[in-house]
Amino acid sequence: MDSLGSNTGKIVESDGTGSDIFQLSITEIMELFKSCGLILFRGFAVHQQQFKKFAEQFSSKFVRDDVKIRTDSSDGAIHLVDEGMGYIAPHAEGATTPLRPDAVWFCCDVPAADGGETLFWDGVQVWSELSEESKQLFLNKKNKFIHNIPVANWKHFLGENATLADVEKALNSFEGVKYTINDDQSVTLDYVCSAVVKTKYGNEDSFANGIVNEQRTKKVIFEDDSPIPDAAIDEIKEVMDRLTVAISWQSGDLVMIDNSRFLHGRQAFTDSRRKILFANSMLNF
Ligand SMILES: [Fe+2]
Repeated sequence: MDSLGSNTGKIVESDGTGSDIFQLSITEIMELFKSCGLILFRGFAVHQQQFKKFAEQFSSKFVRDDVKIRTDSSDGAIHLVDEGMGYIAPHAEGATTPLRPDAVWFCCDVPAADGGETLFWDGVQVWSELSEESKQLFLNKKNKFIHNIPVANWKHFLGENATLADVEKALNSFEGVKYTINDDQSVTLDYVCSAVVKTKYGNEDSFANGIVNEQRTKKVIFEDDSPIPDAAIDEIKEVMDRLTVAISWQSGDLVMIDNSRFLHGRQAFTDSRRKILFANSMLNF
């Protein structure tokens, strides 16, 4: 076991003699994960079938992603990451919605010949390095994320036969959600939440949110409808640029990430053979 970058993330490497990931102690993995929040398993030759089986050991349920990601298994739990080939800015998964998963899982089938690294940031580390001024700003004002959800998207979540009454019922059950139903039955949804979350294990403050990714399309503002100042965005980016850690994928790698602590993103690539699987889940420990 070794450190992965300057944060708490760890790499667990096999001794190279055909080690089986299922021989590792589940309790020890849970304890390690609680303390470090991100584990890369290397040298265990994990591929699609083992990936899901392994993640299931730690999960109470898998969480479906939205339609932009192609489903790669019959029950929709495992997905191919195929949102184009460009750079993906830092974000915690589902952080702009009330459906934020506990954990994000990636598994590398085929790495890109060049680029395509998955990037990650420790939200606790980011928070500790922000200026007092920014901290006060984000503690005092919650963020508002604005979504426009076409009919096809809410049907993807609620089922093909779902009605607007089902949409209302589902949305009314979430805290922080306000919505309007438009004439074309699409839904405009505001989700209000703090940029600073508590980590699932240890209850630490973590800047694991969707701000940097969403501000590029101006889909995030403050709760009082004021914009997030450019100076604050610049400072967040400057701090995060210093703290980026990259996973240079090898075939058979598996990574499990505490989504309450870490943000992730992706480096651009051009190799169309790159195949990275991913899943989101709620944890069972
Ligand atoms: Fe993501």
